[in-house]
Amino acid sequence: MTKIALITGANKGIGHEIVRLLAGQGVTAIVGARDEERGRAAGERLGQPYVRIDVTDEASVAAAAKWIETEYGRLDILVNNAGIVGGPAAHQPSAAAAEQVREVYETNVFGVVTVTNAMLPLLRRSEAGRIVNVSSELGSLAMAGDPESPFLAFNALAYNSSKSALNMVTVCYAKELKDTPIKVNAGTPGYCATDLNGHTGPRTAEQGAAIAVRLATLDADGPTGAYMNDDGAVRW
Ligand SMILES: NC(=O)c1ccc[n+]([C@@H]2O[C@H](COP(=O)([O-])OP(=O)(O)OC[C@H]3O[C@@H](n4cnc5c(N)ncnc54)[C@H](OP(=O)(O)O)[C@@H]3O)[C@@H](O)[C@H]2O)c1
Repeated sequence: MTKIALITGANKGIGHEIVRLLAGQGVTAIVGARDEERGRAAGERLGQPYVRIDVTDEASVAAAAKWIETEYGRLDILVNNAGIVGGPAAHQPSAAAAEQVREVYETNVFGVVTVTNAMLPLLRRSEAGRIVNVSSELGSLAMAGDPESPFLAFNALAYNSSKSALNMVTVCYAKELKDTPIKVNAGTPGYCATDLNGHTGPRTAEQGAAIAVRLATLDADGPTGAYMNDDGAVRW
C-alpha cells in the first residue's frame, strides 16, 4: 500500500527536498505550505499533492487534517519541518523582545504540537506511523555548553531554545506513544544552505533532508524518542 506523508513547510528548502526524496521512494508526499501560490507551484514541480497548512493557525491545520482524511483516510508519516529562525530581536538574550521569541516558539514548538495533535488520529490508523520533528544541533544543551562545539558562538535565544523545547516535545510524544506502532524522533539536518540562513550553510538542502527521510521510513525495530543526525545519535 502506498504510504501517505505530510511535510510541513515544504514549498522550499529542506522540506521541499524531503518531499522529493520520499516521492522517489514511492511515497505520496503531500506538500504542506502556508502560501497557496508557493505551495501549489512546489506541488506541481514535485508532482505531489499540495495542502494549505499554516502551523500557527489552528483552523488551517484542522482543515488540512480534514482534507487528508477525506482524500486518503489515514496518514503514515508526518514531518514537522516548518521552522523559522526569527529576526535579530530574537537572538541576543539580553536584548531579546519577548514578542519575537514568542513568534519563533509559535512556529517551532506550539505549531508542532498543534499539527501533531491534529494528525494523530490519522497516524493511529496507519500500520506504522512515523513522526519526524526537524530539530537542530543548536537545540543541544550538551553541545551549547561544550567549549569544543562548532556551535558555541551561535547563541540565538529564541531559535536555539525553541529547538531544545522541540527535543523534549519529541521525547514526550514518544513516551506517550511507546506502546503503539507510532515512532517519534527528532532529526538534525546539519548546517544547510537555505533561505533560513541566507544560504550560508556548507551542506545542501538535499543532504539536510536525508535524516528526516531515514527517520520517516524506519522499520519496526527502529528507535523512538531519539535525536539523530546522519552519523547517529546527537548529544541532548
Ligand atoms: N538550514 C539549516 O541549516 C537548518 C539546520 C538545522 C535545522 N533546520 C531546520 O530545518 C527546517 C527547514 O528549514 P530550512 O532551512 O529549509 O528553511 P527555509 O528554506 O526557510 O524553509 C522553511 C519553510 O518553513 C515554512 N514555514 C515557516 N513558517 C511556517 C508556518 N507558520 N506554517 C507553515 N510553514 C511555515 C516556510 O514557508 P514560507 O516559504 O511560506 O516562508 C518554508 O517553506 C526548519 O525547522 C529549520 O529550523 C535548518
